Amino acid sequence: ADPKTYTATCSAPVNIAVIKYWGKRDTSLILPTNDSLSVTLDQDHLRSVTTASASAAFEAGDRLWLNGIEEQIKDSKRLLACIQECRKVRKSREEADASLAKMSDLPLHICSENNFPTAAGLASSASGFAALVATLASLYSLQPTLSTSDLSRIARQGSGSACRSLFGGFVAWQSGTSPDGSDSLAVEVAPKSHWPSLQALICVVSDAKKGTPSTAGMQQSVATSPLLQHRIKNVVPGRMVEMGKAVQAKDFDLFAEVTMNDSNNFHACALDTSPPIFYMNDTSRAIVQLIEEYNRSSIEETGKRRVAYTYDAGPNAVLYAEEKEVPTVLALVRHYFPNADFDDTFNLLGAGA
Ligand code: PMV
Repeated sequence: ADPKTYTATCSAPVNIAVIKYWGKRDTSLILPTNDSLSVTLDQDHLRSVTTASASAAFEAGDRLWLNGIEEQIKDSKRLLACIQECRKVRKSREEADASLAKMSDLPLHICSENNFPTAAGLASSASGFAALVATLASLYSLQPTLSTSDLSRIARQGSGSACRSLFGGFVAWQSGTSPDGSDSLAVEVAPKSHWPSLQALICVVSDAKKGTPSTAGMQQSVATSPLLQHRIKNVVPGRMVEMGKAVQAKDFDLFAEVTMNDSNNFHACALDTSPPIFYMNDTSRAIVQLIEEYNRSSIEETGKRRVAYTYDAGPNAVLYAEEKEVPTVLALVRHYFPNADFDDTFNLLGAGA
């Protein structure tokens, strides 16, 4: 008879940080230099779907395909770390419980697909590693022995920001202080249902592969930017508190203020790096000016901001707004960027809904 094949499929969405992670204190365990906080987007938009199978029939050993193209697992310390960690937990459970199927040593075939451009600064590594760990956890039945935060600690070793995509809604990655990374994990700040009217709008300014990958960029910033040291010590701790308050109170004005300030501070740190790193381009900056102007007139009228922008390690803008503001924001962006490349690709995403 054919050997038994075990299979599981899971998906994970992208998350967009409103307090950015930038800098590692341990590059192999992926331990960050500061706490961060993000919003996980809805499943049906930007996401990775991963299927993993384990079978004695897979004679060539572990193999992995990303968007249909085979990747060499052995060349990626990060993939190896995530797979090994999940296997190790399964193995110890099999040793403790003789009734569990012996599958931890079986070779794996893993397929992962993104429904959006990979490595364009759209957080593909976040959804990718989160989906990988969620899928292996399902294949090996690791939950509830491991909590979602425990899984986030494994996904963190694939890509830092991936730890936050294990949860929906509003998520904090606590940097932790332990050198072994045991307390560097994601926790839920508020579930998706807490603030369903908050929406995210992705403006794809460019879907080309980004210039400086986040790993190299962070390393250069940690080594050379005095502004990053200031950010880590004096800026982020207060902002984590403010952002926690903004989310709990669903205070969009405060949420927007802290989000935009933090994006600008992160990009200032990129510019303060030697050699300087430019993630935003002219279109990105024009969007900043447009939103600033729109908020200025809104503050005059109502005392409050209506839109927030944030940028990761690439030129694409993510705009946050309350649902009732979205039609106006869309009309505004379309009006000022009638011929922009992103015109037909910018998607309306439900965040926290
Ligand atoms: O996890 P990485 O290496 O893709 O780093 C992500 C860094 C930012 O996207 C710029 C910020 C963040 O917190 O997601």
